[in-house]
Amino acid sequence: MQLRINARDYAVAERPDRALLWVLRDELGLSGTRFGCGAGLCGACVVQLDGRPVRSCQTPISAAAGKPIRTIEGLAPDAGSLHPVQQAFIDHQVPQCGWCMSGQIMQAAALLEADPELDEAALVEGMRQNLCRCGAYVRIRAALLDAAARMRGTAGS
Ligand code: FES
Ligand code: FES
Repeated sequence: MQLRINARDYAVAERPDRALLWVLRDELGLSGTRFGCGAGLCGACVVQLDGRPVRSCQTPISAAAGKPIRTIEGLAPDAGSLHPVQQAFIDHQVPQCGWCMSGQIMQAAALLEADPELDEAALVEGMRQNLCRCGAYVRIRAALLDAAARMRGTAGS
């Protein structure tokens, strides 16, 4: 099966029903995508499939084949810069243990790339099922608002 991940093609010899999460982590070494609950509940494993956030623990590779997959390793536009959501998470010192962070960032990036005009309530709602066991929600929210402003080009205005 062919998977296209972060603009690179991978041939994987796996069962079609194997979860994308395990192929990313165990077979391809893309361990930035995290395992949390394994049941679609926490959001630690979010990646983007065809531009939409999906829970890779619940996504069989058969559903991902032939579509562009983006993981945290492929989010930055180039080696010299970060995605605005990544930069905002750093600037607001959001991570505590860091385990939920790639899922938080991938979810937020997908939401804001689809609509950078999302208001605070819509952003919070869109992130509601991304859990953070460290409770960094206040900093996550601040970073999201900052990232949204950067992506709209209104940061600091
Ligand atoms: S590990 Fe996939 S939603 Fe929790
Ligand atoms: S920073 Fe620890 S789970 Fe979110």
